[in-house]
Amino acid sequence: MSESKIVKLVDESTNRSSELPLLSGTLGPACIDIGTLYKDTGHFTYDPGYGSTASTKSAITYIDGDKGVLLYRGYPIEQLAEKSNFLETSYLLLNGELPTKDQFSKFEHDITHHTMMHESLKDFFKGFHHDAHPMAMLAASVASLSAFYHDDIDVDNADDRKLAAIRLIAKMPTIAAACYRYSIGWPFRYPRNNLEYVDRFLHMMFEVPSEPLELSPVAAKALDLLFILHADHEQNASTSTVRLVGSTGANPYASIAAGITALWGPAHGGANEAVLEMLQEIGTADKVETAVKRAKDKNDNFRLMGFGHRVYKNFDPRAKIIREMTHKVLGELGINDPLLEVAMKLEEAALKDDYFVERKLYPNVDFYSGIIYKALGIPTEMFTVMFAIARTAGWIAHWIEQHETPGARIGRPRQIYTGADVRDYVAADKR
Ligand code: ACO
Repeated sequence: MSESKIVKLVDESTNRSSELPLLSGTLGPACIDIGTLYKDTGHFTYDPGYGSTASTKSAITYIDGDKGVLLYRGYPIEQLAEKSNFLETSYLLLNGELPTKDQFSKFEHDITHHTMMHESLKDFFKGFHHDAHPMAMLAASVASLSAFYHDDIDVDNADDRKLAAIRLIAKMPTIAAACYRYSIGWPFRYPRNNLEYVDRFLHMMFEVPSEPLELSPVAAKALDLLFILHADHEQNASTSTVRLVGSTGANPYASIAAGITALWGPAHGGANEAVLEMLQEIGTADKVETAVKRAKDKNDNFRLMGFGHRVYKNFDPRAKIIREMTHKVLGELGINDPLLEVAMKLEEAALKDDYFVERKLYPNVDFYSGIIYKALGIPTEMFTVMFAIARTAGWIAHWIEQHETPGARIGRPRQIYTGADVRDYVAADKR
């Protein structure tokens, strides 16, 4: 990182000024460091939604939203999607480099041997109503991990941090599958060490005592790909939440549980569930035109879910890869899903509509992912849980980076106060 020019900001009404350094990273626009602005001028900055604000320095993920570029530790997402797997990508996010064969074997061994849930954690599920949303069960279960591992959650201890990362990546599929099985009244399945990460998860989801489970290689490949694509996305809402909670010194499980709840909203990870509901509501390709009209109507709250992105003002590179995989999965599994036709028509209609073109609204990562999840037999309310399994790798990589960065401070934004001016308390009988 380099510090080059200085930007001078002058408040002409008071003649107070601030000389603000311009900070440049490896790639991307330079940032004005406003750290001394309040001291120098008495002013804060105002940027609701953080459209122009970098909250941290990070060496993990880079996005160029105008060009549709996404890099994990410098590697283009297209190359990782083609050549890597989710566990290798997780190692990369956590450690900064691709693993050697030995490093990968050790990492895979460590993950495989931390997949079990504490038996007492299973009892927690009995407290949930049978139709509880799986994201509610997931967030509560992950937060509760701090109660099981309180001896190894010293946030200042590098070994404890590493162990928390292994535990979280390892246990997330086990907990996620338990959320699903609890909701349908099936007995929980123990993780099987002879299976790879994604196969093990599918086994815990779908295996029943009455018949052997045939795992389809294309299903496992597709899920692994979705996990790679969802593994990190720099300072998105849930990752920023993890960092904000992490900045208070909260333990890793509490910090990741906060990320899970942030992910749940339909403007973020909940979009994959919302996309499928929207496609089902549209129903047939001939209703697409009406849906596009509604999405443009400012008096209608309806938005095209799976469209638009704060950073991408070009095609989301992940959406391109998922679109291709959707056709492959449906083809190889012999599934003819009419929702795919609705999705393709909707994409086509929106991409040539002036409203979407002018606003640079393109399909995002979640536009097609739900169709793949549906083809794999994963129910709609589990879609955001799938996202959370994958994003755990990114969340914990950011949490570790935050704790390895010297001089970190608690995250504490300021505000523009718009409430009442100072006034005297009025006794109840005088109001
Ligand atoms: N459908 C219709 N109009 C849209 C959509 C959409 N999906 N997205 C944005 N717009 C319009 C807005 O109404 C606004 O129009 P205006 O300029 O006339 O007021 C303009 O495009 C800019 O939109 P903002 O909401 O200001 O963009 P912002 O960056 O704040 O929001 C977001 C990005 C939340 C992703 C938004 O595009 C959206 O709600 N999309 C649908 C939900 C979704 O798919 N979320 C998943 C995002 S990816 C992820 O988190 C994994």
